[in-house]
Amino acid sequence: MLSMTTRRTQVGIVGAGPSGLLLSHLLARQGIDSIVVENRGRDYVEERVRAGVLEQGTIDTLAEAGLGERMMAEGLFHDGIEIRFDGQAHRIDFPSLTGGKRIMVYGQNEVVKDLIDARLEAGGAIVFDVDDTAIEGIDGESPTIRYGKDGAEHAIACDYIAGCDGFHGICRPSIPEAALTGYDRVYPFAWLGVLADSTPPSREVAYCHSERGFALLSLRSPTVSRLYIQVAPDEDIANWPDQRFWDELQRRTAVEDAAPIETGPILHKGITPMRSFVVEPMRHGRLFLAGDAAHIVPPTGAKGMNLAVADIRFLTEALAAFYRTGDTAGLDGYSARALRRVWKAQRFSWWMTTMLHLSPNDSPFDRRRQRAELDYVTGSEAAMRTLAENYVGLPFETGLAP
Ligand code: FAD
Ligand code: PHB
Repeated sequence: MLSMTTRRTQVGIVGAGPSGLLLSHLLARQGIDSIVVENRGRDYVEERVRAGVLEQGTIDTLAEAGLGERMMAEGLFHDGIEIRFDGQAHRIDFPSLTGGKRIMVYGQNEVVKDLIDARLEAGGAIVFDVDDTAIEGIDGESPTIRYGKDGAEHAIACDYIAGCDGFHGICRPSIPEAALTGYDRVYPFAWLGVLADSTPPSREVAYCHSERGFALLSLRSPTVSRLYIQVAPDEDIANWPDQRFWDELQRRTAVEDAAPIETGPILHKGITPMRSFVVEPMRHGRLFLAGDAAHIVPPTGAKGMNLAVADIRFLTEALAAFYRTGDTAGLDGYSARALRRVWKAQRFSWWMTTMLHLSPNDSPFDRRRQRAELDYVTGSEAAMRTLAENYVGLPFETGLAP
């Protein structure tokens, strides 16, 4: 290493995904200084294809934080979803079931672009392309983030560190193993996801159960489709040339009177494993975990990024209260408050996943029960309301969890 520099900030943030960037933005609005370090380049994080559905509370959080301009112009408000099975489409209407709440289709990478633009415009510090990130001293009074960049070694002395570095980051593994409990479920299937330059096959997001496996019809714009099919967890993407994907999608999503799916050039193709994971607590000493660093959900409920936004709302409130008054009650309650919401989203994501996918472990009894569940959830107003209430996002509870 050629040289060593040390900077100081109030909150050091590891990871420039939705969690880390939003935290940095919301803290700045409270007059709290932060530095974000990210091991990928700006282009990479801005182009990463991931989640696409924003809950009402996420839309409101971003808009209230001054991040709504492009989102409101380009995002697509949706008033419901479809559930398809047995060749029939069933609609679940959100506003009428939830007192007027809706969702928005707006790609996670667009949210990330808006956040990076806002931070850089406000003079915020985001250090891209770092290597060898490490954190030290989280048990003491002055934790430090260390990283390398362009051959030089750097340190950031912080009051607190936010671990926003996703499921594979370094923050969670920096906590002594004995201090954490992990809760894990790995599902026996994965999603093959495609981004295509083609007219979206369904006006609304459509969750499709079929005897050939699950499929999901989504979109990013009136001319770009986001499409998924259930595959084996160890599936080789080379087994899925474009035409095979389109044929399989057509078979799994067909309903009466629907026009055949329009195909088009595939812009991106990837396989996402399905897993539920939560670590407790979401804090150790002066390190706070948020977003995928602390928990992941299978994407069937569209909860991943929305949960990250909820964590960051809670963490911002706690840090703002501390810097305003010196009171640490909010920081002490952060983990319990966030986990209360996390577990409800875990339950919903697990339920949607098991209701809609075919599992190789299912018995004939499980299959019959699954069909009855789909029939019930699309036929009973009480059941539809339960789905809708969770899908648009539960309200942010105020105050500390017990
Ligand atoms: P991330 O977005 O993972 O951000 C973490 C950041 O930290 C990244 O930029 C990473 O590069 C950086 N980082 C990691 N390690 C280090 C390090 N050592 N030093 C510095 N920086 C580091 N959710 C849905 O709802 N629907 C979907 O369709 C969907 N698809 C997904 C597909 C994939 C492949 C993945 C991984 C996730 C998907 N999710 C989906 C989940 C959703 O994208 C996440 O919940 C969301 O990205 C969480 O945001 P985050 O900021 O907490 O974590
Ligand atoms: C998406 O548009 O990428 C999407 C939509 C709904 C989900 C998951 C992903 O449940």
